[in-house]
Amino acid sequence: MSRTSKLFEPLKIGRTELKNRIVMSPMTRNRANNNSEAPTELHQEYYSQRAGAGLILSEGSPVSRAARGYMWTAGIFNQDQIDGWKKVNAKVHDDGGIIYCQIWHVGRVSHSYFQDGVKPLAPSALNANSKAFTPNGFEDTSDPREMTKDDINEVVEQFRKGAANAIEAGFDGVQIHGANGYLIEQFLHDSANKRDDEYGGSIENRARFLFEIIEAVTDEIGADRTSLRLSPSGLAATQNDSESRKLYEYVIKKLNSYNLAFLELMQAIAPTDNYPHLPKEVLDTYHEFYDGVLMTNGGYDYESAHKAVESGKAHLVSFARPYIANPDLAERFRQNAPLNEGNPDTYYGGGAEGYTDYPFLEKQHA
Ligand SMILES: Cc1cc2nc3c(=O)[nH]c(=O)nc-3n(C[C@H](O)[C@H](O)[C@H](O)COP(=O)(O)O)c2cc1C
Repeated sequence: MSRTSKLFEPLKIGRTELKNRIVMSPMTRNRANNNSEAPTELHQEYYSQRAGAGLILSEGSPVSRAARGYMWTAGIFNQDQIDGWKKVNAKVHDDGGIIYCQIWHVGRVSHSYFQDGVKPLAPSALNANSKAFTPNGFEDTSDPREMTKDDINEVVEQFRKGAANAIEAGFDGVQIHGANGYLIEQFLHDSANKRDDEYGGSIENRARFLFEIIEAVTDEIGADRTSLRLSPSGLAATQNDSESRKLYEYVIKKLNSYNLAFLELMQAIAPTDNYPHLPKEVLDTYHEFYDGVLMTNGGYDYESAHKAVESGKAHLVSFARPYIANPDLAERFRQNAPLNEGNPDTYYGGGAEGYTDYPFLEKQHA
């Protein structure tokens, strides 16, 4: 029997009407294995297969060469990439989908391989002690260099240009990647940001870079096509922040005045037991501070997603791993149909296997 849930109801975000509240999360899949790191025909098939989602968030799409930390991530800074995305987006739209581009700068979660020999950028010269993915496979992240004011201005402009390129490429909007230990989060967290200028120290100063990017992007394409992802209790390539609750309360409250299309808050995925100051229940902790459209993500299944939207705490739920293996996830949820299991060995890199070959319901029943 067909399920009934708010999850299947339409919702307006910014200037776009979504047909349901089931969102495909941004996922790096490392399939842009050509010289320009542009999306290919395979990307067209992969994304259009998932057009039944209310909204697709693209894989993290680097805004410049130096913004990269992993091989074959389809970017949004050169013409081949824009042209490749145009074809992806046309196909998604033909199939009734809506798609935003996740615009991304990895900062210190990189390797000098991606930096034409120089050091990666970061708020402070502190190694992420994480991994980058080069032609030699996973390698330790390189020591970064502290960004100058000129570097900061340049990266803000790269986000602006990335957003403009995304619109030129036919995306319906962008999601600024402010999560998961990458550059914006490096500025937010005092574990990575030791600056003593106007971008470090106080919460207001640590959030300055984020808000400069939001201002540039919304100025360029409009707040009604701009969204943001944050991971308030995240521990990916970061030790988070010593006053995390105060930091995120400040950021989320300040976001109210920007009228973004939506804000996405990720639940903590990694155990936070050694970090008692990080809330485990991110949505419960922070939803009351935000007046706009809120998306939640992280470990949701149908039941927990249904609860989150019915409770009114979230308007949208995004799914990552379930969307890898179930191109028609929204329809499976609606029909209460079984889900395919994904194969983690084919998450990153490779070709069609584990990317475009997961079966649809109809095909399984045929
Ligand atoms: C293969 C893979 C790639 C991912 N790439 C990105 C990414 O590019 N940007 C991002 O913000 N999160 C990325 N994530 C995190 C997911 O978007 C999501 O937050 C996380 O998997 C938790 O959601 P889930 O429990 O529904 O899988 C990735 C996750 C996976 C499994």
